[in-house]
Amino acid sequence: MHLLHGDYLWRMAITLLAIESSCDDTAAAIIRDGRVCSNVVADQRVHERYGGVVPELASRAHQSNIVPVVDAALKEAGVPPDQLSAIAFTRGPGLLGSLLVGVSFAKGMALSLDIPLIEVHHLQAHVLTPFAMDPTPEFPYLCLLVSGGHTQIVLVEDFQRMQVLGSTIDDAAGEAFDKIGKMLGLGYPAGPQIDNIARDGQPVHTLPHPRLDGYDYSFSGLKTAMLYYLQKQIKSDPDFIRKNRADLCASVQHHIVHILLDTFRRAVTDYPVKGLVLAGGVTANSLLRTEFKALGEEAGIQTFIPPFELCTDNAAMIGIAGYFKYLAEDFAELNVSAQARIQMR
Ligand code: KG4
Ligand code: ZN
Repeated sequence: MHLLHGDYLWRMAITLLAIESSCDDTAAAIIRDGRVCSNVVADQRVHERYGGVVPELASRAHQSNIVPVVDAALKEAGVPPDQLSAIAFTRGPGLLGSLLVGVSFAKGMALSLDIPLIEVHHLQAHVLTPFAMDPTPEFPYLCLLVSGGHTQIVLVEDFQRMQVLGSTIDDAAGEAFDKIGKMLGLGYPAGPQIDNIARDGQPVHTLPHPRLDGYDYSFSGLKTAMLYYLQKQIKSDPDFIRKNRADLCASVQHHIVHILLDTFRRAVTDYPVKGLVLAGGVTANSLLRTEFKALGEEAGIQTFIPPFELCTDNAAMIGIAGYFKYLAEDFAELNVSAQARIQMR
């Protein structure tokens, strides 16, 4: 009999189940030896009519989604539960009620299979996303993490050592897209719609461009300025938004992207790094992608922009971050608890 046939191979490989439930996506993935075998996400439509994530509804939806999502991830990868080496899960940061569903499920399953648990920091996982791709970046690299909940510039020294150089002091970039989109009469999330509509417009409307010390961000001034600008224009033309929607979307997008990249460019000048990584849901923005690549070319540094399904909240990134912790034998205790706020190390 050949020793390395199917079942035996699975047993030798490091096979992780990863679970993510920090916000409004219930996600599970199977990672084998650092490669993504399946990546399943159930998003929660229930929040659309409220114009934002409702924490209580999110926890309930996680509760009903988690079993079918984990089951689908195992089946898609063709991995029976008894061949798992460990379970990685998002410990935080995020919505506590949502995190608790994933953490409790991971604990229960690890206990029943008698395998180790690996806790993962949600933002560290976003930052390590390019390790799910080929080629992978070299350390150190700078990551611009832009999502609905976070806007950060992170200096990544290795898999565990990361330094947050700057963060938003108010709204996140995705939140700014969503809130300004709401003023323009767009549904939630407005980011993808602004991106689409902006294709037919020009950034002709001038908005403020804040400049903070260090590498921090602020988007609330932009939001307020847009509100006053719209109120003033609507006074003389009640149909102003409808008539100017494309140019307004192009202007909002232009300003958010330039605010993001002007500060990031300063960090790139100040820190000698070997790669530039874009991560988080706002990575889907077409202007941001183009301008990020251009920034890399201008600086002579390779850029890494993961595919969209790895940029929005997903469990593959939790599994990738968990895999490096598995190799370092960095396991969690069974009494580990979910944490809504945790600092990035
Ligand atoms: O990372 P993510 O899936 O989850 C949260 O952190 O919530 O990011 C979602 C955010 C939303 O604010 C959404 O409007 C924004 O990413 N987004 C976009 C685009 N696609 C998603 N923003 C601008 N342009 C896009 N194409
Ligand atoms: Zn996220």
